[in-house]
Amino acid sequence: MNKILFVCLGNICRSPAAEGAFIFLLKKRGLFEQFYVDSAGTSSYHEGERADSRMRETAEKRGINLPSWSRQVTSDDFDEFDLIIAMDKKNYRDLSAICSNNENLKKLKMFTDFRQTMGHDEVPDPYYGGKKGFEEVMDLVLDCSEGLLKYLKV
Ligand code: 4NP
Repeated sequence: MNKILFVCLGNICRSPAAEGAFIFLLKKRGLFEQFYVDSAGTSSYHEGERADSRMRETAEKRGINLPSWSRQVTSDDFDEFDLIIAMDKKNYRDLSAICSNNENLKKLKMFTDFRQTMGHDEVPDPYYGGKKGFEEVMDLVLDCSEGLLKYLKV
């Protein structure tokens, strides 16, 4: 079983979009049963909330469901998951800080490390911006999900 955790700040926009996009591609390929996919936030600001309605609408237009309920990431997640995938550099630093050993630190990646066609080095935070930002996040998480599937050789 491959266990993958996507992480952003609030766990209501980018990491739920990444989780939904990756699950969408897994299901298209008939691979969903081989994976356990979840998302979390470095903060607890939105604990217990569904994904932001703007993010959900953007995803739903593409037939992508966002199943997440916000929760804060914990250091135990580094034991539980095989890969912990940060959306931006601040998330990466915050995750490094709660990771208790060097072996587990190898599980930590930037999502944009897997980008295929798009030229970003992090997934930009869309929370305080307009519609275009949410569309950009969706394009980017789909592009990076394709690359992650290649990396996993599934
Ligand atoms: P996310 O977006 O990290 O992609 O879920 C944000 C959500 C909430 C806040 C910031 C970013 N906030 O400041 O409450």
